[in-house]
Amino acid sequence: MSTIHRIEVELGERSYPIVIGRGLLGGSFAVADYVRGTDCLVVSNDTVAPLYLDKLLPNLEGREVNSVTIADGEAFKTVATLEQILDELVRTGSGRDTTVVALGGGVVGDIAGFAAACYMRGVAFIQVPTTLLAQVDSSVGGKTGVNHEQGKNLIGAFHQPQLVLIDTDTLDTLDDRELRAGLAEVIKYGAICDPEFFAWLENTMPALLQRNPDALAHAIRRSCELKAEVVAEDEREAGRRAILNFGHTFGHAIERCQGYGEWLHGEAVAAGMLMAAELSGIGTDDVARLRSLVAAAGLPVEPPTIAPGDWLAAMGMDKKVQRKKLRFVLLERLGTAFTTSDYDEGKLQQLVGSQA
Ligand SMILES: NC(=O)c1ccc[n+]([C@@H]2O[C@H](COP(=O)([O-])OP(=O)(O)OC[C@H]3O[C@@H](n4cnc5c(N)ncnc54)[C@H](O)[C@@H]3O)[C@@H](O)[C@H]2O)c1
Ligand SMILES: [Zn+2]
Repeated sequence: MSTIHRIEVELGERSYPIVIGRGLLGGSFAVADYVRGTDCLVVSNDTVAPLYLDKLLPNLEGREVNSVTIADGEAFKTVATLEQILDELVRTGSGRDTTVVALGGGVVGDIAGFAAACYMRGVAFIQVPTTLLAQVDSSVGGKTGVNHEQGKNLIGAFHQPQLVLIDTDTLDTLDDRELRAGLAEVIKYGAICDPEFFAWLENTMPALLQRNPDALAHAIRRSCELKAEVVAEDEREAGRRAILNFGHTFGHAIERCQGYGEWLHGEAVAAGMLMAAELSGIGTDDVARLRSLVAAAGLPVEPPTIAPGDWLAAMGMDKKVQRKKLRFVLLERLGTAFTTSDYDEGKLQQLVGSQA
């Protein structure tokens, strides 16, 4: 049997494990032990449920299991879909001791987590992420929510899971483009807080793209360790946690201007990280290394063409704006990041294509 790795997210009474391994859905780790009470509601979508729901169900044996399948896609990360899940919790007579289990990518995780945060003022939930992005990023840290017409993730709550169960075998069915998008967040961890991991990624990118299981397992494990450390230090993003948004101010603007779904989040973040690295004014060698790694992952190194005014307007909508002054995550050098409102205004104008 293959190895199971366990990482603790240290948050006092809200602490929980991230368990990573192959074939975990099939029962080599008892998910049912983390189900509080007697029943649970598995939330999945119409792509993931046919692939993995039957694999997970036996692992919940001994509990009363209900399930709800939502429509696939970011467009369905809405209050209406949230209501669908809440309706199901009410319909099945779920009590305060029920557990919501999210089986799917970041969309399912965010919305199911938010349903768990809302139902009866908060019930337990378990994350079973099935995309690389969800395994290395969205399932860890307790940010949950849905989108509003006016912006992404405008409605949400912090609500930590009881368990994050990562079965790396689920990546077998994920398409290459989604895999690469997840790698953008993996690269991000190296760039913001772990130069050795960054160097490891430089050497290992071909193996990752070929889905070498050991390489993927290490990338996921290290990403989760780094995210867990940052979240443990600053659960509610009062400070340091913001470094996880490296590349995201530009990235969110790209997603917004292109129309959500045109560029995947990870693709937008990839181009956004390069813009942020340029804005940082770090050495050209470091920028070149980041560019090469992003390119090696098959991710965009340049943003799409966006009119300067649209860039700035889109960044003005970014939630990380504080008192109208943009706040960026910049690099001190490759492997160290900080947040600041004190950036080179001329360089920013140049990056978004307007005259300085
Ligand atoms: N909460 C957080 O901290 C956080 C962090 C980053 C991103 N997010 C959110 O995550 C979402 C993006 O997540 P995502 O990239 O996982 O997108 P996603 O959930 O839309 O999944 C991408 C696609 O892959 C499919 N899929 C999922 N698992 C699969 C599998 N194993 N095999 C085949 N297909 C599979 C999905 O059905 C979907 O079509 C966004 O809504 C974003 O806001 C949240
Ligand atoms: Zn992201």
